[in-house]
Amino acid sequence: MHVVVIGQGYVGLPLAVHAAEAGHRVVAYDTNTSKVKQLSVGETYIDDIPSDRIRRLLESGSLLPTADERDIPPYDVAVIAVPTPLTDGVPDLSHVESAAATLGRSLRHGAAVVLESTTYPGTTRNCVGGLLQQHSGLTAGEDFHLGFSPERTDPGNPHWHLANTPKLVAGIDQASLDFLSSFYRTFVDHVVPVSGCEEAEYAKLLENTFRHVNIALVNEMAAVAHDLGIDAWESLDAAATKPFGFMKFTPGPGVGGHCLPVDPQYLSWHSRRTLGRRSKFIELADEVNADRPLHVVRRITQTLNSKKRAVNGARVLLLGLSYKKNVRDTRESPALPIIRDLVRLGGDVQVADPHVPTGTEIPGLPTHGVTRVKCEPSALSSSDLTVLLTDHDSFDYAAVAAHSTWVLDCRRRLPALEHVEYL
Ligand SMILES: NC(=O)c1ccc[n+]([C@@H]2O[C@H](COP(=O)([O-])OP(=O)(O)OC[C@H]3O[C@@H](n4cnc5c(N)ncnc54)[C@H](O)[C@@H]3O)[C@@H](O)[C@H]2O)c1
Repeated sequence: MHVVVIGQGYVGLPLAVHAAEAGHRVVAYDTNTSKVKQLSVGETYIDDIPSDRIRRLLESGSLLPTADERDIPPYDVAVIAVPTPLTDGVPDLSHVESAAATLGRSLRHGAAVVLESTTYPGTTRNCVGGLLQQHSGLTAGEDFHLGFSPERTDPGNPHWHLANTPKLVAGIDQASLDFLSSFYRTFVDHVVPVSGCEEAEYAKLLENTFRHVNIALVNEMAAVAHDLGIDAWESLDAAATKPFGFMKFTPGPGVGGHCLPVDPQYLSWHSRRTLGRRSKFIELADEVNADRPLHVVRRITQTLNSKKRAVNGARVLLLGLSYKKNVRDTRESPALPIIRDLVRLGGDVQVADPHVPTGTEIPGLPTHGVTRVKCEPSALSSSDLTVLLTDHDSFDYAAVAAHSTWVLDCRRRLPALEHVEYL
């Protein structure tokens, strides 16, 4: 089939690659010309998709990266995978709207459009469907198929990827559902049909809210345990031996990325607007998780204080800049507010992250007071404190343990040593 994927980010690029590898002819469209340039020469910018996979598809002619709308052919299937951020705390569907308008201009009878961006219920039917109709003059359900299929990608996860993660697929009618299910079955092992788009949109928000709330719970439990002198991590491991009724989440320096700090707010905003109802769990989880970076700074201050040091003038080496392990994504990373606070307090802040290339522009990273370094014995031993924020597999943990003066381990990656404390 002729497939168009709008948005070549963490969701769109893997999807375009899997679809092209399954034998479809894929136009990979993105308005960001530098991403398109990189893709066009077979260079990846996403850790889970190696460059050689892109190059093979370019050579076979099955993948066409482009920023030019005129390259969008009369397609059989179009997938929308553009950002759905918050602007001033409010859902911002402008990218989805512009993608739908683009696709509406080349929509034809019998084609299908599917939204993968995370959003509040009703977006597929009302927003995307409405714009497609407006720009094409066709009618959803009668002339073209329309559906929603949330992306469940877990960047950096070596086991679960697009092909082996069950994929929810919904359509505005049975014909849309059947058409889109057959399309996804060409490169996804297990398609899970959902009868309504609104139910699938809600399911995605439920999944991410579940995670957000449980991370907040375990973060709060860990903070209380620490103040009681209890090893929260050991309690967690102990609780996790229960074979039913318990699911293990681990504490950390805060949540980041495009999903957890954002998606639950789509749900609370929608519920407030349509029902006038507050989502108390979401508000509380936001509050608890948003406090975590400050909690880390408090722990850094306390640790330095116990060594008769102030943050002002102390050298603090932070390991990890991205929001989760083994990826380069720094969006909403808790490392950023931690760095800003330490710089403001006069700390000499050094940061090591082998996944985030130096020279990358990182919104929110102070331009002064931070030095990018490598996680090497000299950097470790010359710091007053090493703080493990993101437990990338590529850090040499034996070297971290051997050469650090003192370590605050926010992920319990290091063994229990005298100079290692856990968050
Ligand atoms: N990153 C994840 O792990 C993840 C997981 C599940 C769901 N999602 C959801 O998927 C959606 C996309 O997220 P992402 O992480 O891939 O975002 P991203 O920022 O990595 O990529 C989105 C891409 O869309 C492009 N774009 C924006 N507007 C466009 C337009 N009108 N036309 C063409 N291209 C356009 C941007 O330039 C960017 O390259 C979001 O709704 C997100 O919540 C993300």
